[in-house]
Amino acid sequence: MGNSSILRTKRVETVLEQDEGGGQHLTKRLKARDLVGFGVGIVIGTGIFTLTGIQAKENAGPGIVVSFLIAGVVALLAALCYAELAAAVPTAGSSYTYAYTTIGEVFAWIIAWDLVLEFALGAAVVSRGWSGYLQELLGLPETFFGENSVVNLGAVAIVVVLAVVAALGIRESKWLTNLLVAVKVLICIFVVIAGFFFVKVANLTPFFPPATPKESAGAWHQQPLWQALSGVQPVAYGVGGLLVAAAVVFFAYSGFEAVANLGEESQNPGRDMPRGLIGTLVACGLLYMLVSLVLTGMVKYTDISEGAPISDAFKQVGLGWAAVLVGIAAIAGLSSVILVEIVALGRIGYALSRDRLLPPSLGKLNERYNTPVRMTILIAILISALAAFIPLTALSEMVSIGTLFAFLVVSIAVLVLRRTRPDMERPFKTPLVPVVPILSAVTCLGLMASLEVGTWLRFVVWLAVGMIIYFAYGRRHAVVGHESASSSRS
Ligand code: ALA
Repeated sequence: MGNSSILRTKRVETVLEQDEGGGQHLTKRLKARDLVGFGVGIVIGTGIFTLTGIQAKENAGPGIVVSFLIAGVVALLAALCYAELAAAVPTAGSSYTYAYTTIGEVFAWIIAWDLVLEFALGAAVVSRGWSGYLQELLGLPETFFGENSVVNLGAVAIVVVLAVVAALGIRESKWLTNLLVAVKVLICIFVVIAGFFFVKVANLTPFFPPATPKESAGAWHQQPLWQALSGVQPVAYGVGGLLVAAAVVFFAYSGFEAVANLGEESQNPGRDMPRGLIGTLVACGLLYMLVSLVLTGMVKYTDISEGAPISDAFKQVGLGWAAVLVGIAAIAGLSSVILVEIVALGRIGYALSRDRLLPPSLGKLNERYNTPVRMTILIAILISALAAFIPLTALSEMVSIGTLFAFLVVSIAVLVLRRTRPDMERPFKTPLVPVVPILSAVTCLGLMASLEVGTWLRFVVWLAVGMIIYFAYGRRHAVVGHESASSSRS
C-alpha cells in the first residue's frame, strides 16, 4: 500500500515494539481479576438502572429479559472477536489499533472517532442518569438536576470531579473504581434477592405482550430504520418491540471492550484479555437478566417508573428503605461508570496522539502523574457540554449505534487479519472462524437496523465531522506516513 494512501497500515510488530521499546509507555500491573473489575465498572450503569424500565414499559414488557439476552449474545460474539485481536495486539488503542494493522489508516481513524462517540456520549448519558437519581433522592431543584433541567449542572459537576480523579492517575482511579464496583454489584444482588419475595406471576403474564400498533407512530425519522425502509407499521411489543428494546438496551453492554484498551497495562494479555472480556460480559449479562426479571415481576410493566425504575419498584411494594438504599447505591455505581469512561477516553486519545493522528502535545503524559492530563481536560469539557444540554435518550441511542459499528469493524478485522497475517502469533483464537466473526457482523447490523432513522442520520454527521479532522490534520501528520522507510528496514 502506498505511503500516502489512506489505506496505509501499521505493522503489528511496530505496535508491539512501541509498547516494549523506547518512548513513553504505561505500567504493566493489571491481572484478569482487575480487568473484570474494570469491565464491570464500566458496563453496569444507566442501562440497567434506567433504560430497563423505559424499554420494558414501551417496547418489550417482561420480554425485556430476552432483549437483554439477545443484546448479550451479540456482544459475546463481538467479544470473541475482540479477544483474539486484544491478545495479539495488546495496546492502548484497542479496536483502533486493530483496524490500523489490518484494514488501513482511514478505517482506524473512523473507529477511533467512533470510540470517542461511544465513551464521551456514554459518560454524558450516565452523568445525566446520576444527576436524575440524585435529584430524586434529595429532592434537588429540577432546573439543574435530572431530565427536566434547563442546564444539567449536576451532571457537569460529577464529570469535573471524576476527571480530576482520572488525571491524578490509575492507582487512585483503580482504588476508587474497585470500591464503587463492589457497591454496584452488591446492590444488583440485593435487588434480585429482596425483590424475589415480591415477584407475582400475574405481573409476568403475558411474558411477551402481543404486538400493538404504536399509538403515535411518530415521524419517519423516529422509526427504526428497517421499518422506515420496509414501510411496516411501527409496533410496540411483539417480536418487533423485542428487537427494538434489544437494540436500545445494547447500550447496557457498551463499554466492555474498554477492557481491551488496557492490554498495554496487563501483565499477561494473552491469558488475561480473553478472560477479562468474556468474564465481564457473562457476569453483567446474568445480572441484567435477573434484575430485569425481578423488576417486571415486582411491578406490572405498564406501571414501571421511567425515571428511577428499580428504586420505585421497591417503593411500590412498600419497601421504602430499600428504595433509598438502591438510590444511594445507584449514585455510587454510576460514578464508577463515568470515571472508567473518562480513563478509557484518555487512553484512546493517548494512542491517537502517539500516532500523530491528533497533535502529540494533546496526548503527552504528565510527568508527575503519568496520565494524559491535557487530553483528560479536553475530554471533560466535551462530556460536560453534551451532558449539560442533550437528553439522555438521544445520547444513549447514539452510543448503541456507535458501539455496534465499532464491533462490526472489529469482526471484519479478524477475518482480514486471518487472511493477510496467517502466521501472526495469536495467544487466543476466535472459535469457529469464519462463522463467529460473520455472525457477529450480521447480528450487529441487524441491531443497528432496529435503531431510529434519526440516530442513523446523527451518526453519519458525527462520522463526517471525523473525516474533516482526518483530512485536515491526521492524514498529513500520521507517524505511519513518515516512517515507512525505517519500518521496511527493520
Ligand atoms: N453500559 C453502560 C451503562 O449501562 C454505559 O450505563
